[in-house]
Amino acid sequence: MPSPTEIKAILDRIASGTHTESDLTALRRHMLLDPARDVVQIGKYNVHIGHGQEIQIGDRIYQGPDAETLRAVLRQVLDEARPRPGIPFQAPPLPPYFVPRPDVSDRLKAQLLTGNGHPAGVLVVSAIHGLGGIGKSTLAAALTRDLEVLARFPDGILWATLGQQPDVLSLLSGWIQALGDYQFRSTTVEAATSHLGTLLHDKAALLVVDDAWDPAHVRPFRAGGDRCRVLVTTREALIAQAVGASLYDLDVMTPDQALALLEGRLGRDLTGEERATARELARVVGYLPLALELAAAQVADGVPWDELIEDLNAEIARLEALEPPGAEEVGDERERKRLSLIASFHLSLRRLPEDRRESFAWLGVLPEDVRLTPKMMATVWGKGERETRDRLRYLRNNSLLLPDKTPPYRLHDLLHDLARRLLTAPPEPVREGD
Ligand SMILES: Nc1ncnc2c1ncn2[C@@H]1O[C@H](COP(=O)(O)OP(=O)(O)OP(=O)(O)O)[C@@H](O)[C@H]1O
Ligand SMILES: [Mg+2]
Repeated sequence: MPSPTEIKAILDRIASGTHTESDLTALRRHMLLDPARDVVQIGKYNVHIGHGQEIQIGDRIYQGPDAETLRAVLRQVLDEARPRPGIPFQAPPLPPYFVPRPDVSDRLKAQLLTGNGHPAGVLVVSAIHGLGGIGKSTLAAALTRDLEVLARFPDGILWATLGQQPDVLSLLSGWIQALGDYQFRSTTVEAATSHLGTLLHDKAALLVVDDAWDPAHVRPFRAGGDRCRVLVTTREALIAQAVGASLYDLDVMTPDQALALLEGRLGRDLTGEERATARELARVVGYLPLALELAAAQVADGVPWDELIEDLNAEIARLEALEPPGAEEVGDERERKRLSLIASFHLSLRRLPEDRRESFAWLGVLPEDVRLTPKMMATVWGKGERETRDRLRYLRNNSLLLPDKTPPYRLHDLLHDLARRLLTAPPEPVREGD
């Protein structure tokens, strides 16, 4: 993987017209893209290539003819991969501060592209397994934008997010329609699966089954022929086993990736002084992307790094003390990461102003996995639509909501539990010891 400096050198060569074919190949491999937007991700930079805009990469700004040349080349590379009209591309967008994780995505990609060890004629299923908030869905969404992956699956990328209680039939119908069949109506999952199988039998499509909680929910989506692949994301390793998937165990970020996420979410480079404290903070939250987002939101809100670290440590210790005796031996490292995530949620919630915390608590009345639309939330909160949008944006800015298609938003299920508890239990002490 070229370093940011190497990437900048490639872009400089493009701007001056002295680039080589291998520069383009290197760029192609490391350009993640979002067909819906004019943004490409190159190394750690988000590059806006919209018409007439200057292009900024790190501290270098390309303007005028340089920007035009760069834009033309990036567009060409982008167009090679942009799905053709009529070819489904259902993956959700990447966060604007997406941090590539080549250490894991390269291995997973190799698995997806080759399907080693599987006899011909068999649909290959792979699963990404790992803790909540560790970045499974994001990794899958990034893979669907990889140029080699797109080339391997020219018939499209189908995506279904299941959650705990999926409406399997309507998700299957969504796939059938995405493949161009608007006539088919089915009242049973079996008929829909079998029809999907017919539509996909000679196609090469990547079928992503995101956030699976039950093998019975996954099976109906295993409908393609042997040119298709199914990619499942799940918190439960047993699900992968039950659907015959080869398992990829996703671990937390590396310290450098964690730092890049903090910088990206803050929208600025860290000062030399901040870096050491930021590293310590990343360690305390166990390098979990979701916990890092929460922490960055607090820092962006003006909470000093040191104070955040201190409070997180105190909260993790408090949660550990609440665990039943012996629990720490069972989950050890994994359990500690889970507690770090919960501690991060608790801190973020405690720092909310009272009325915002109350808004958050009302999310607990909603069913799990529901998509939060401004209209629905205006009813739940009893507010006007503008106020509702503000509140939703506020919660999202504090990383208490997950982006879906911005909006609707989603609520992490651990946060849903917390909201429900806030509604039904007496308020938590504001500080430890209160
Ligand atoms: N590589 C990354 N770069 C930037 N942000 C990331 C990255 N990976 C994850 N995140 C952020 O961390 C949060 C959690 O990631 P994600 O939703 O992918 O986790 P998950 O493992 O799918 O969790 P769950 O089990 O709850 O579905 C998201 O808000 C996402 O934006
Ligand atoms: Mg997920």
